[in-house]
Amino acid sequence: MKNMTSVLHYHDRTKHRLSRYAASLGYMDWATQPNPFRRYEHAPILPLIHSEITPPYHLLFQKEPLPVAPLCLESLSQLLRYSLGLAAIKSHGGSEWALRCNASSGNLHPTECYIITPATLGVCDHATLSHYAPREHALEILHTYDEPLAEGTLLLALSSVIWREAWKYGERCWRYCQLDAGHAYQAIKIASSMLGWECEILSVDTAEIASLCGLDQHERFDAHERESPDMLLRIGKSNNGVLPITPSLSYMANTLSPAHHDWPVLEVIDRSTHGLYPSVEPLNTIRAVPLPSKSTGEIILKRRSAQMMDGSAITQEQFRTLLDSSLFCSDTPDVHFILFVHRVEGLEKGMYAYVRNKNAFASLRDAMDGIFRWEDCGDSLCLLQEGDYRGAAQMISCNQEIAKEGAFSFGMLCNFSSSLEKHGAIGYKNLYHQCGAIGQMLYLEATSLGLSATGIGCFLDDEFHALLGLRDQRYQSLYHFTIGRAIVDTRITTLKPYSSASKRLSSFP
Ligand SMILES: Cc1cc2nc3c(=O)[nH]c(=O)nc-3n(C[C@H](O)[C@H](O)[C@H](O)COP(=O)(O)O)c2cc1C
Repeated sequence: MKNMTSVLHYHDRTKHRLSRYAASLGYMDWATQPNPFRRYEHAPILPLIHSEITPPYHLLFQKEPLPVAPLCLESLSQLLRYSLGLAAIKSHGGSEWALRCNASSGNLHPTECYIITPATLGVCDHATLSHYAPREHALEILHTYDEPLAEGTLLLALSSVIWREAWKYGERCWRYCQLDAGHAYQAIKIASSMLGWECEILSVDTAEIASLCGLDQHERFDAHERESPDMLLRIGKSNNGVLPITPSLSYMANTLSPAHHDWPVLEVIDRSTHGLYPSVEPLNTIRAVPLPSKSTGEIILKRRSAQMMDGSAITQEQFRTLLDSSLFCSDTPDVHFILFVHRVEGLEKGMYAYVRNKNAFASLRDAMDGIFRWEDCGDSLCLLQEGDYRGAAQMISCNQEIAKEGAFSFGMLCNFSSSLEKHGAIGYKNLYHQCGAIGQMLYLEATSLGLSATGIGCFLDDEFHALLGLRDQRYQSLYHFTIGRAIVDTRITTLKPYSSASKRLSSFP
């Protein structure tokens, strides 16, 4: 009960409102900017390899999964390279920064990944615990287990360095960390599909994840830079739920910032949302196989957030394909879209609902204002009200023009109170993971269609809810998004990552 009160308090307190944004520093404290790359000093390094051949994107969605790749150094390298690896190095005005395959709020990348492998050809002849170092595309070996682990089962644990986001976003940042974790999860899921591997979130206690990865060994981390366990993923066969026991580790985490700001509410929300990770009932609809497309690797590396949109229209087929692609995220049954359609050929401008889980039609309708038309447009899309919502979309998205100049923008409206009732306080965390996973999927789908997307974490929560006429907390919007055609800033140079030209990326030790 106490945890639930903390969740509701945090949720309300970190809403952006017209009258005031959620608490943050209000300026960029460049002197304390966190290093986006976690390293474990003196840990042995295993360089991973770069393989460029990946299957065509559309084949990931056919009924028959792709042939199952054996677990070896090459396949593990490909999994990490195309999920959490660097996608590009950007350079402008004398500074350089890395972009990754997984999108992240403010490009701050709070998500870290730990890998538990059984004895694997080219990796180690014993089971190991390692940490992925994206800048080096390498594993830092943290521990070698004496006892064997189930062959063919790979575990990946995701955790968040909350400080990385707190540095810029203050109290609202915990939400962004969770959305980012969802993005990382879906990035891993897509990269797994390339290898014919299935990937699922295990319903385990977050304390077990912390113990497995040594995150509960607090003395190894700066007190402000500890990692909070998010989720444990299993790829491959079931391992009967038995996790290896990780002893005390000797490698110390690097320090990410020379000084820190305290946001006490972040500790409270983090503590309140630990526990047994929910097991959700998956969606039972599947996405259609898209048209033949480029190689998955090419799409993943090309994915970029649009910073400006050109205001052009997209076709209705593209629009419907984008919505349909979200069904690939079958473990996101609690998320629906309320869309502001600005420019989609053959569709009236207006506000629409895309009800991703048919069971929710009646309750959504009941929760929202009675004036809406709910006119069936096919495939779970309903016109709520025609009209020009460009101004509203921009206003709700903290005045960001991309929400107006995209072909459409939308809010991810979640079954809020029922999820919290069902799963407890950790259900709050899971809802963000669901939204983030959908976000990563839509980024990739947009890229495959020659379009661009941008996740929008900055939105005015209750202004959006008021527009829908929501009177209670049955539904809450937890993430916004826009898709259209990007205007590319040609002043910024793009370099290939991991090439000699981009090896200079050294602003952090
Ligand atoms: C959870 C989340 C929230 C975001 N919110 C915004 C936003 O409000 N406005 C914006 O312009 N970009 C937003 N972005 C886009 C990020 O700034 C972008 O992902 C990051 O700079 C990395 O660039 P990339 O996506 O091209 O790799 C968001 C991304 C994520 C994952």
